[in-house]
Amino acid sequence: MIEDLDRFYRVDAPPAQRAWVVMSMIASVDGASTMGGLSGPLGNPTDQQILRLARAAADAILVGAATVRTERYRPIRAPKRLYVVSRTGDLGDLAELAAADTTELVRPRPGEADVDLSRLLDGLAGQVVVSEGGPTLNGQLLAAGLVDELFLTVSPRVLGGDSSRVAVGPSVVTGEPWELRHVLHDDGYLFLRYRSRRSSSASVRSSGTTS
Ligand SMILES: NC(=O)c1ccc[n+]([C@@H]2O[C@H](COP(=O)([O-])OP(=O)(O)OC[C@H]3O[C@@H](n4cnc5c(N)ncnc54)[C@H](OP(=O)(O)O)[C@@H]3O)[C@@H](O)[C@H]2O)c1
Repeated sequence: MIEDLDRFYRVDAPPAQRAWVVMSMIASVDGASTMGGLSGPLGNPTDQQILRLARAAADAILVGAATVRTERYRPIRAPKRLYVVSRTGDLGDLAELAAADTTELVRPRPGEADVDLSRLLDGLAGQVVVSEGGPTLNGQLLAAGLVDELFLTVSPRVLGGDSSRVAVGPSVVTGEPWELRHVLHDDGYLFLRYRSRRSSSASVRSSGTTS
């Protein structure tokens, strides 16, 4: 149990000219992003609370279609919106999610192979956008330099195996160090908050949550 957890996960007002992008993920100590094919079993109640805080701070949630299908997403509450990126447009048997007013299925434009994530985020300027993954979506966001913050929970498990890291795909060329804003721990878990270089140049207030 961590006191004042909400204080540590407060997200400042985003700059008006662009989206503020927070990546929220969990991994085992050795980097596995799933256990038994899902992320939930890696978590604990504090991690669940951080997920809720991230969602509460979000105007929009961004997620890859594979995560939606695997983790069986449910509709989110208005006025927040859930942007699901997909080439196939396949939301499996999640009819309630597909029909929800708050779900936005984002597919590539005609003649384009992929959803242009920069363009999608340009359309969300002035909003806090939380990327809930998965690793394939995150890898593209990172490679394009579109991520401001990372909320990373490290689960006290060492799993081996071939579960992917929290971001895969193209490498980040610059590899600049990110700024550590806090380290919290509870029940063997670590809760890390990092800020990228891109965020330092944005005109936002500092929240002073570093501990
Ligand atoms: N540890 C964690 O915190 C965490 C968080 C989330 C997910 N996960 C786990 O990660 C796994 C899923 O992750 P993943 O990396 O396989 O997939 P993902 O990133 O969730 O989704 C990949 C899919 O998203 C769509 N997509 C991604 N980029 C796109 C683009 N630029 N344009 C159009 N469509 C795009 C495609 O959907 P279509 O296939 O529909 O074309 C693609 O197959 C699951 O096992 C889940 O449990 C773990």
